[in-house]
Amino acid sequence: MSIPAPAPELMPAYPASWFLFGLASEFRRGPVSRDLLGQRLVAFRTASGKPVVLDARCAHLGADLGEGCVIGEEVQCAFHNWRYKPDGRCSSAPNAPEAAWARLRSYPTVERHGYLFFFNGPEALFPLPFFEDAEPGAYVVARPLRFYAACPWYLVNGNSFDVQHFRSGHGRELIGEPVIDCPHPFARRNRLTLRNVGDSVADRLLRSLLGDRVCVSMTNWGGSVVVVTGDFRSTRSNLITFIEPIDRERCFLNVLVYAQRGRIGRLFDHLRLWLRRRFTNSFMAEEFQMLAGIRYHTGCLVESDRPMIDYFQWLTHLPRGAPAAAAPAADRPYSLPLSLCEERVP
Ligand code: FES
Ligand SMILES: [Fe+2]
Repeated sequence: MSIPAPAPELMPAYPASWFLFGLASEFRRGPVSRDLLGQRLVAFRTASGKPVVLDARCAHLGADLGEGCVIGEEVQCAFHNWRYKPDGRCSSAPNAPEAAWARLRSYPTVERHGYLFFFNGPEALFPLPFFEDAEPGAYVVARPLRFYAACPWYLVNGNSFDVQHFRSGHGRELIGEPVIDCPHPFARRNRLTLRNVGDSVADRLLRSLLGDRVCVSMTNWGGSVVVVTGDFRSTRSNLITFIEPIDRERCFLNVLVYAQRGRIGRLFDHLRLWLRRRFTNSFMAEEFQMLAGIRYHTGCLVESDRPMIDYFQWLTHLPRGAPAAAAPAADRPYSLPLSLCEERVP
């Protein structure tokens, strides 16, 4: 018998959460625009060094501000020279004093490890996630891995709660039961212990180097960000994934692999990072082969999919981000129902 699951239309097309814009060095010389989350966005750095993300379409005739330039603290459109402040307000429009109404959406930003992140809403509902009790400055990060999936974004992130597929898809046997809880109103976490029983070259190498057991913690923040740690016998692996929905049927996943700074020096840090990135790449490439073309059918989920169904249910209560709605609709409160935040041990 199938178990009821939320209809796909109830999932946010673009959740109000944190997303990766790109490398901060890309907009060192001027504004850079990108198609992200169903809209055109522009990033620029003001003369005082503040990173800014705005809607890229000029309020006048829609020219792309990525073709413009930065003047002091403002970005100027190349077409008729209207200028915008970091908060999106139009500060000057030559020969059009009545254009004071013009305003673009502006997004909260954070720059970390040389990458720019933005929150897809008028204000950040939670800080840019990182590893629990860890200082970003104590870590180094590798160049992001980027994967494309022809499936809805929430199925990619639903993987963290798809307990069954670790055995069948990844050669990992579950030891004990997963522990699922909500450590924060906008976070849902799954912690589980796995035994590596895979027979790929990478699996065998991993077993001989780090043992066969790993305690994994995966915390999904706001729907879009997943903070993952894996505790092996003698080391911890760290990565954070940022989903990038293209539309309701396609998405990218950006994967940032981290390593703690060591005492030996930068060269050794980079060697460790390179190795971790290689392992992550082989694991994730397998994952994305399996994900190709999967579909969300509410009538096909079964009792053993329960942790994933609960995750989908949780998603339906998350606030929507731009372009769907800047503020939550009355029936979509920012505070989540308590029942969805209680600890659940299946
Ligand atoms: S289109 Fe930007 S100023 Fe006219
Ligand atoms: Fe997976």
